[in-house]
Amino acid sequence: MMASKEKHTLKSRKAARIETEITVPPDKSISHRAVLLASLSNGACTITNFLEGEDCQSTAKAMRQLGIFIESPEPGTLVVVGNSGRFTKAFGDIDCGNSGTTMRLMAGILSAQGFRSRMIGDDSLSKRPMQRVIDPLREMGAELSAEGTKSCPPLCIEGDRELHGITYRLPVASAQVKSAVLLAGLFAKGTTTVIENVRSRDHTERMFEFFLIKTKREEIWENPNSPKNRRLLEVRTTIEGGQIPESRDFAVPGDISSAAFWLVASAAQPGSRLLVKDVGLNPTRTGIIDVLIRMGARIREVIETSLHGEPIGNIDIKGTTLQATTICGAEIPNVIDEIPVIAVAAALANGTTIIRDAAELRVKETDRIAAVASNLRAMGVTVEEFPDGMAITGGSPLKGAKLPCHGDHRIAMAFAVAGLFAEGETIIEDTACVNTSYPGFAEALRHIQKGGHIKGSTPVLSGFKTPTP
Ligand code: S3P
Repeated sequence: MMASKEKHTLKSRKAARIETEITVPPDKSISHRAVLLASLSNGACTITNFLEGEDCQSTAKAMRQLGIFIESPEPGTLVVVGNSGRFTKAFGDIDCGNSGTTMRLMAGILSAQGFRSRMIGDDSLSKRPMQRVIDPLREMGAELSAEGTKSCPPLCIEGDRELHGITYRLPVASAQVKSAVLLAGLFAKGTTTVIENVRSRDHTERMFEFFLIKTKREEIWENPNSPKNRRLLEVRTTIEGGQIPESRDFAVPGDISSAAFWLVASAAQPGSRLLVKDVGLNPTRTGIIDVLIRMGARIREVIETSLHGEPIGNIDIKGTTLQATTICGAEIPNVIDEIPVIAVAAALANGTTIIRDAAELRVKETDRIAAVASNLRAMGVTVEEFPDGMAITGGSPLKGAKLPCHGDHRIAMAFAVAGLFAEGETIIEDTACVNTSYPGFAEALRHIQKGGHIKGSTPVLSGFKTPTP
């Protein structure tokens, strides 16, 4: 009994200076999409460096339930045999676990399968709004409804309606909604266009292109010829229905959202130095780097190559005493998953950091604004909460505390990082949820806690280059 309790608790205390190089787990968003596109394709695809976390396993399990052959010859590798967009009715409900990405993206696919499907989720997913995918899919002709209150799961999809293409302007910046509409668009008659006023992560679009789906992407700018004054007005993504992805092998890069925990841990510690290797550097995901640079960290980001349509490279970061910043507007979707750990950086920075336009955080795996605010307060930080963000006054010493994570992996990991800077011990309770995105986080935490130096071994930092100023 004791052992299993121990297993689901994260403990951290003040850490030494970090001086190491690390790799991080495969990207969660990209792993989901790789299984989906491979399943939709016309043949066998080998996916390497697939995230074995629970969220992506939910997507793979759902595809198997729908008749797709998937085997894993070794950990992190999946061989998926696509069936050209055809699936068979699942036996029983499709359990999406904790994964909003699984449920929302699959809603697009299941809307056009000719059979009825019912998707369910765990307690947290059962509280997440599905109206945002129901609305556009209904507009395309699909019949679907949420059984829970306030349009929450279970989500029932009749699947037997003919879909037609639409032009849909996203009311909220959401890559999940955009992807659900584009995936449904593959099965729709005619043209489907999704318009975003604020750019969200574009992994689906890149993967469509990589799997040879003809995709048109346009950016509309105000003052397009003035690099200083130009402003992105909208991004339009268009596909024609009836396309079948061409089977391809795919390798997943490291997840910058998982790297974010160690980027903050290093950025906020003067004298720390960290090299994160082989991480995805898609510009719709690298906002964390811009934020930490504004806060004073010295960072060099080197794109080494483009791997299957996704930029990949290394991040080299040097810590300092951080300064407060403001994060709002179009930057928010780019850092949406990193805000809990950015809030920890804010608590360690001099001055008051303002986070606004981030109401979406209230409908993530938990209400992340409320969770961050109450955990930071428990550690002695002054936080003012707004409906769409918070003001965090940093710079005073953090004190260790026993904290809940509300079943939210990113809250658990963000506060384990906070514990690296606190007086006394920080204990995060019920942290089994960390496995949804970062299997091995506890070991990485122990490694970082020691500054990355494994007892008796040579520090791995030799040959580390100086960042260009
Ligand atoms: C994701 C998109 C984001 C993000 C989530 C993963 C994706 O959600 O928060 O963790 O893989 O498309 P929204 O699209 O709802 O903003």
